[in-house]
Amino acid sequence: MFENLELQPPDAIIGIMGMFRADPAPTKVDLSVGVFQDETGRTPILECVKRAERRIIEAQDSKSYVAIAGNPGFNEAMEKLLFGAGHPALAAGRMASVQTPGGSGGLSVLGHLIARARPTATVWLSQPSWPNHLPLLRLAGLELAHYPYYDFDRHVVDFDGMVETFSKLGPDDVVLLHGCCHNPCGGDLSREQWDALADLFAARGIVPFVDIAYQGLAENLEDDAYGARVMAERTGELLLAASCSKNLGLYRERVGLATTVSRTADGAAVTRTNLAQMGRGIYSMPPDHGAAIVSRILNDDELTALWLDELGGMRDRLNGLRRTFADKLAERGAPGDFSFIARERGMFSFLGLTREQVIRLREDFHVYMVESSRINFAGLNRSNMDYVADSIIAVLQ
Ligand SMILES: Cc1ncc(COP(=O)(O)O)c(C=O)c1O
Repeated sequence: MFENLELQPPDAIIGIMGMFRADPAPTKVDLSVGVFQDETGRTPILECVKRAERRIIEAQDSKSYVAIAGNPGFNEAMEKLLFGAGHPALAAGRMASVQTPGGSGGLSVLGHLIARARPTATVWLSQPSWPNHLPLLRLAGLELAHYPYYDFDRHVVDFDGMVETFSKLGPDDVVLLHGCCHNPCGGDLSREQWDALADLFAARGIVPFVDIAYQGLAENLEDDAYGARVMAERTGELLLAASCSKNLGLYRERVGLATTVSRTADGAAVTRTNLAQMGRGIYSMPPDHGAAIVSRILNDDELTALWLDELGGMRDRLNGLRRTFADKLAERGAPGDFSFIARERGMFSFLGLTREQVIRLREDFHVYMVESSRINFAGLNRSNMDYVADSIIAVLQ
């Protein structure tokens, strides 16, 4: 049986991590990683998480299964966090949610749900998109296509290109949009653009599918959820996958949510049973520990306040690094305009370097990034920032 398998290429980022580890240069800098890092290069456990964990360990008296849909306290608190407690779809009982293993688990459950509900659907991914969207949704057996999203030359969202593409779509089309902090390009939609797309989708019957993996890391929890909320309000139907990996630093605990908004409460009750069945068929039961932590935090005022403070600290670090790095490149005479770095949001942006320049940065300056020149700003700190800016300028000249 196994002789039929073909050798698969290693994950590009894993390959770069290996090269970085093997590099003995004391000046080496890794800007390829996909996780938040503090000024000392650590990916910390939040204090609110530590406190919630201690309470769970003291109170927990069983490790029996929780439920196929996961922790109900988590699901309810997450719906409110994502959509706002007063959202009309929530008040009307039109939402259905299951806790999933990470945002990736949510994307997978929803992908399988689409394949069952509308086998003829095409799911549209942004060009570019998070590289894992494609294999995750392809495994669900879906037909995939790409819509233009990022103008690499001007470093802005190609909104005209999006509208032109979406104007030809209809009810057989599902469009996957990043809620905020677009990975990999950092270019987000404005409120006006979300409004315009929500109206266009409503008019043409297009189904929005929002992937929100960075809520609270762009502007604040409310503004970052604007797109998901307005879509859910105006289009009648929506799919949403959320992740707690980044905004709560719970990466390895695998905490996420798959939510749908149906046209009616009766429809939502039916969708809920299908969501649960999808989860049952893929992983049976979601892991509990991370969701129990999030439920404790979101259902306790003191822990919520602590989390908001810590989340604000992570966001300020990312936005501060963006501003400082854009200023540094300008002050040091970098050829070209890098002001887009300060305008974009989240952990990632494309620097716009060629593959050869990225390789030169790695080989001559020990600065590591993926070949597309996507960097994670959290890999920068006060002591390496000048060096990275000068290295980039050197390969650009
Ligand atoms: C856009 C996007 N969606 C979803 C995820 C999934 O995250 P996880 O499965 O770790 O929760 C990520 C993680 O990098 C992401 O960047």
